[in-house]
Amino acid sequence: MPENTLNLKGRDFLSLHDFTPGEVASVIELAGEMKEKQQRNVPHRFLQGKTLGLIFEKASTRTRVSFEVAMYQLGGHPLFLNTKDLQLKRGESIADTARVLSRFLDGIMIRTYAHTDVEELAGYADVPVINGLTDRLHPCQVLADLQTIKEKKGGLAGLKLAYVGDGNNVCHSLMFGCAKAGLDISVATPDGYRPEGEIVRLAREDAEPAGTKVEILTDPVAAVSGADVVVTDVWTSMGQEERRAERLKVFAPYQVNEKLVASAKPDFIFLHCLPAHRGEEVTAEIIDGPHSAVWDEAENRLHAQKAVLALLL
Ligand code: CP
Ligand code: NVA
Repeated sequence: MPENTLNLKGRDFLSLHDFTPGEVASVIELAGEMKEKQQRNVPHRFLQGKTLGLIFEKASTRTRVSFEVAMYQLGGHPLFLNTKDLQLKRGESIADTARVLSRFLDGIMIRTYAHTDVEELAGYADVPVINGLTDRLHPCQVLADLQTIKEKKGGLAGLKLAYVGDGNNVCHSLMFGCAKAGLDISVATPDGYRPEGEIVRLAREDAEPAGTKVEILTDPVAAVSGADVVVTDVWTSMGQEERRAERLKVFAPYQVNEKLVASAKPDFIFLHCLPAHRGEEVTAEIIDGPHSAVWDEAENRLHAQKAVLALLL
């Protein structure tokens, strides 16, 4: 356990909404320290002898690899658990799975479809549960995004982030993350693809102390206007593949391209959680261009998650 940090031992990490602005700031600060330690080869084996189970019901490149490497670098062990190999797939309940895994593991990360399944798992587990993405939220991604913005912009409060595209899990977590970290967020989605009303309401509540904005629009140009950070995500998330053709048409006006970013600040940065589809939600000239910070963003998954793991486990 690192010194001089908040005590979050035993807490779950299901949503950024559950953490105070101060706690979110501390996690991001520790993420920066973790990065520095790794770059300077300073040992940071805070989790020696600890094991993290990684339950995956959906595909992953970044989340799986960054969590596994995070546990190795912290001196602990990751245990990859594909749901198709677990008794869960044969009908064992989430509650029983949680009770049993809690007897072996020091923490559980889970990536699945229904957010309520993760809440149920956390309710029955005696060890911290970390949300590695659900249909509703992707909080680990947004910690890395905030870390990246802080690195590139020298701070977070007072900036404007524009999210253009689908009102999905990444969009929802960005709304909470911006509200907690003091950024204004403008979201532009087609009608019918807006973020969930309840999440907008909670994010606006979260934004009250800092007096920041959570703006939900349909016009991408208005959202991107004056933005310090421009973010998009895939138009078809995992589990929505059947509607891909329809989505390609609806989202076409929401592509992040040179024309759209012309209204952003001249020194804006571009973020995308990846995987990306060049020519769909973003053009190659943007994601591979000088404003793009997507590779640092991907790397920061490792450092941000090391901070979460060191604090919770
Ligand atoms: N951004 C992200 O979560 O990537 P993976 O789906 O590869 O884990
Ligand atoms: N919104 C995307 C994020 C992938 C990391 C999905 O859920 O598929």
